[in-house]
Amino acid sequence: MGHKVRLSRCRAMMPKEAFHRELRACLSREMRVVFFLNAASTGKVALVTGGSKGIGAGIVRRLASDGASVAFTFSGSEERALKLVHEVESGGGKALAMKADSASAEELRAAVTKTAEIFGPLDIFVSNAGILTRGTIDTYSLEDFDRMVAINVRAAFIGIQAAAKEMKNSGRIVLIGSNTAIRTAFPGESIYSMTKAALTGLVRGAAIDLAPRAITVNNVQPGPTATDMSAPHADMVKTLIPLKRIGDVSEIAGLVSDLASEEAGFITGASLTIDGGYVA
Ligand SMILES: NC(=O)c1ccc[n+]([C@@H]2O[C@H](COP(=O)([O-])OP(=O)(O)OC[C@H]3O[C@@H](n4cnc5c(N)ncnc54)[C@H](OP(=O)(O)O)[C@@H]3O)[C@@H](O)[C@H]2O)c1
Repeated sequence: MGHKVRLSRCRAMMPKEAFHRELRACLSREMRVVFFLNAASTGKVALVTGGSKGIGAGIVRRLASDGASVAFTFSGSEERALKLVHEVESGGGKALAMKADSASAEELRAAVTKTAEIFGPLDIFVSNAGILTRGTIDTYSLEDFDRMVAINVRAAFIGIQAAAKEMKNSGRIVLIGSNTAIRTAFPGESIYSMTKAALTGLVRGAAIDLAPRAITVNNVQPGPTATDMSAPHADMVKTLIPLKRIGDVSEIAGLVSDLASEEAGFITGASLTIDGGYVA
């Protein structure tokens, strides 16, 4: 009880993100477990696609620190995925890594089913897995087009459909789009921009269709954010951003956490841009 009182006082005195960082850095495992029992999403079940690194890993860490049991998919390194599971578990949380290529409807659906079997009905689904394959429109290959559409758009549709079946009423669905839906800006990004623009229409319709169950569906549109995907052009692009920096994955994860909260129950069908003013 003593720990709980001290943690509540701490939390009242500083912003949520800073509080979480502080906790991870200084608390013993026992105290972290007490914090998880107190957190906003305690008992909730979340699934994040493409959660092994980058923005997805930031979302996994954040939802776990909010108190949710978090399942996530990956398609590449199992070692990296298991390392994240271990990190979450050693902080007192629950995580589950599943190899599932978002380009495969069967694998994605199986990941949703497995999450519900192991953790219980879903409260939160985040469709984050995405790829960026550059190329100008005159030479872009049909194979690259089909793969990017399959992972960036088709998987969002499959994920929403499968997750909604396993989701409690009043659940939360969040897609990770991109501010390139609004402004493409560079050569070689037409197909990527097209896939992210498609998500803005998808969330509007899905929000209306799932409203009778009070399930909200929203789309977070990051600008350049520090991950492997943005690394090649990070230095150049930050000069174009009014805040003169690229985003941190914890900032994107913070917005996802807010949209996944109970307080966000009246936000649905929205595409919310988080990009340091890049498209302002
Ligand atoms: N970084 C940015 O500047 C930025 C800006 C706007 C929007 N976004 C969007 O944010 C999302 C995450 O991007 P990121 O920058 O974090 O990318 P990232 O660092 O490349 O990470 C991508 C994640 O998705 C997984 N993934 C990739 N292909 C997959 C597939 N076919 N099936 C399942 N998982 C797959 C990867 O795991 P494996 O490696 O194990 O496959 C990894 O966990 C994407 O939708 C991206 O379009 C990023």
